Amino acid sequence: MEFTVNHQALAYLVAAVLFILGLKGLTHPSTARRGNLYAMLGMLLAIVATLLGRDVQAYGFIIAGIAGGAVIGVIVALRIQMTAMPQLVAALHSFVGLAAVLVGIGTFLHKQDAGLLNAVLMGEISAGVVIGAITFTGSIIAFGKLQGLLTGAPVKFAGQHLLNAVLALATIALAVYFAMSGSILALLLMTMLALTLGVTLIIPIGGADMPVIISMLNSYSGWAAAATGFTLHNDLLIIIGALVGCSGAILSFIMCKAMNRSIINVVFGGFGSDGNSGASAGAQAAEKGVKSAAIEDAVYWMEDANRVIIVPGYGMAVAQAQHSLKELMELLEARGVEVKFAIHPVAGRMPGHMNVLLAEADIPYDRVLEMDEINPEFPSTDVVLVVGANDVVNPAAKEDKSSPIYGMPILEAGRARQVYFLKRSMRPGYSGVDNLLFYQDNTSLVFGDAKDTIDGMNNALKGSGH
Ligand code: TAP
Repeated sequence: MEFTVNHQALAYLVAAVLFILGLKGLTHPSTARRGNLYAMLGMLLAIVATLLGRDVQAYGFIIAGIAGGAVIGVIVALRIQMTAMPQLVAALHSFVGLAAVLVGIGTFLHKQDAGLLNAVLMGEISAGVVIGAITFTGSIIAFGKLQGLLTGAPVKFAGQHLLNAVLALATIALAVYFAMSGSILALLLMTMLALTLGVTLIIPIGGADMPVIISMLNSYSGWAAAATGFTLHNDLLIIIGALVGCSGAILSFIMCKAMNRSIINVVFGGFGSDGNSGASAGAQAAEKGVKSAAIEDAVYWMEDANRVIIVPGYGMAVAQAQHSLKELMELLEARGVEVKFAIHPVAGRMPGHMNVLLAEADIPYDRVLEMDEINPEFPSTDVVLVVGANDVVNPAAKEDKSSPIYGMPILEAGRARQVYFLKRSMRPGYSGVDNLLFYQDNTSLVFGDAKDTIDGMNNALKGSGH
């Protein structure tokens, strides 16, 4: 049977539905695996339907590209650490941006040779190339900051906003000129300016805001793909591009809301540090009037508690303490203690970071509660164990108007009877601000790597003979 344009359109429609079901599945941890499966099936269908289409002239390069990409993809996926996921996502976005630039320029050269250029097509090419170029270099800078190759601190200089405004206006002017004239010089100049803009837009943004920026770049990559879809007359690319563009934009807004920041403030704020400030543990704690405690103290209180709430944060991911936490939960539950996990929407370094790690350790979903659900339970809780979290429980967000995190909703851990922080030093969290909760009477710090400390707690519980 011949594979016609109608067959392809039908396959694209089914693939688009599978992508939407995939996104829906990703909205909850219990359905996320199924969501991923739908999305993978959709992508497989899309690739097969595209390869069977009439536009494909030769398969050699395509198969070589798919094979090379698949090998690299599998190696990277197997080796990547969960904590390095944001920079991987940034790197992948840079490829989408680069592809949009190359397809745009390639289409221009091809259609020029065939004498098939028109203003609408060149407008579409401009959109794809400009958004793609900004996404490409912007994502490379985001990757460099998150990977520690570039400073995580905001890079600022006088006249920065003016420079960005001039670059943006010049890029738009060149895009319009290119669409009207078909000048290759205008196309190349426009591409260079957009590549520069990607760098100058992202360098002033601090490390703590990088996840929001990655989500924004994700959105840009979607719009670049949609513009490329118009250029290539590929309906599925338009649909997927729009889905990615919208979902990335919505996610950026959700993150900003969770931090009580406006997107404008994120883009122009220069908020956060490179996280390297601060010094060593015990002595500094005492100097600052902060209580430090031994593992046994925390175990003593937890054993006799009615309810323990565990607040995981970025440090749990660094220490890979989720499996030890599962064991702690089981040991405490065996003693009749109710154990719950409290998840802040921006705990960790990417959306859903904590949920993914807790799910990996098979911690049941009904023990894992979102901020709004769990906050009323803190005042009637005996012990809160803050595992490598910091900013998400910092009362400065509510009490200190001068604090950069003022206004961010927090997990109200400080309202419990006892709070134990598991961390390695007196260093602040990613926002770089001191945590007021450290100085509260009911708070103690247990210094050490979170996994080592929890393993110590588990051993103490196993040895306590109950
Ligand atoms: P943070 O405030 O960044 O605090 C993490 C803490 O973990 C640090 O105080 C660190 O202290 C500790 N830590 C690091 N490695 C550790 C280890 N091996 N063992 C024990 N402790 C360790 O984390 P959070 O409370 O999860 O807050 C997230 C931050 O990222 C917020 O500022 C949030 O706004 C920002 N952010 C997140 C997102 C998303 S989507 N998640 C998006 C944008 C911004 P020591 O160095 O002393 O150990």
